[in-house]
Amino acid sequence: MSAPLAGRRVLVTAGPTFEDLDPVRFLGNRSSGKMGFAIAAAAQRAGADVVLVAGPVHLPAPEGVQRIDVRSAAQMHDAVFAALPADVYIGAAAVADFTPAHIASSKIKKQPGDDGLQLRLVRTRDILADVALATPRPTLVVGFAAETDAVDEHARAKRIAKRVDLIAANRVGIDGSGFEGDDNTLHVHGADGHVQLGPAPKTEIADQLVALIAARLQQDPR
Ligand code: PMT
Repeated sequence: MSAPLAGRRVLVTAGPTFEDLDPVRFLGNRSSGKMGFAIAAAAQRAGADVVLVAGPVHLPAPEGVQRIDVRSAAQMHDAVFAALPADVYIGAAAVADFTPAHIASSKIKKQPGDDGLQLRLVRTRDILADVALATPRPTLVVGFAAETDAVDEHARAKRIAKRVDLIAANRVGIDGSGFEGDDNTLHVHGADGHVQLGPAPKTEIADQLVALIAARLQQDPR
């Protein structure tokens, strides 16, 4: 069996983040972790030493992969930076862009006469953009883009704004595309154009993405 990533350290994030509001409520999203876990398994099969930073999901760790469980975007940021340096970073997690400004220490109660609840949210730190500026920087920084429309346009803009090498963009929607399902389609954008992977099972797309990453590393072995 070929091992194109032998000797490489690959750091993958997967799953959602949960941003706590109080001891019983949180803001989350629909990521199941399937895409990121499939990538971690594919990289391991390709011979890499793989660290998987996972948000709260109910999936078993792929065999031979070092798994670090986190809950919030801030914890994921800390865990990723503790696991660096790496040769490749792949950010497949659906990280919250906003988190509550304060976590209530006891359950938020509705009061008689309340007609709503105002929440103040603040920006989280962008893990992907920070990894792209890390020293030493991974040779390849691969982000994802989850878009409901104008997938390729947003993907190109995100790749440039976040200064990453590749962006794997997918359409997400209430119809089940992208999130949760077993199949996906990725549009992988680099400086030199883009390729489509799938539609296919996430496990197959993960193998194709890892093959593409291995080929890029061979061109630029640093
Ligand atoms: O887990 P599944 O159910 O299998 O679903 C897979 C998926 C749809 C979650 C996955 O394929 C995917 O698209 N992951 C990225 C989701 C996302 O957060 O996209 P985004 O366009 O909002 O973010 C762009 C990139 O920035 C992502 O690499 C994200 O990890 C990263 N990011 C975002 C915010 C933040 N604070 N830190 C980050 O690193």
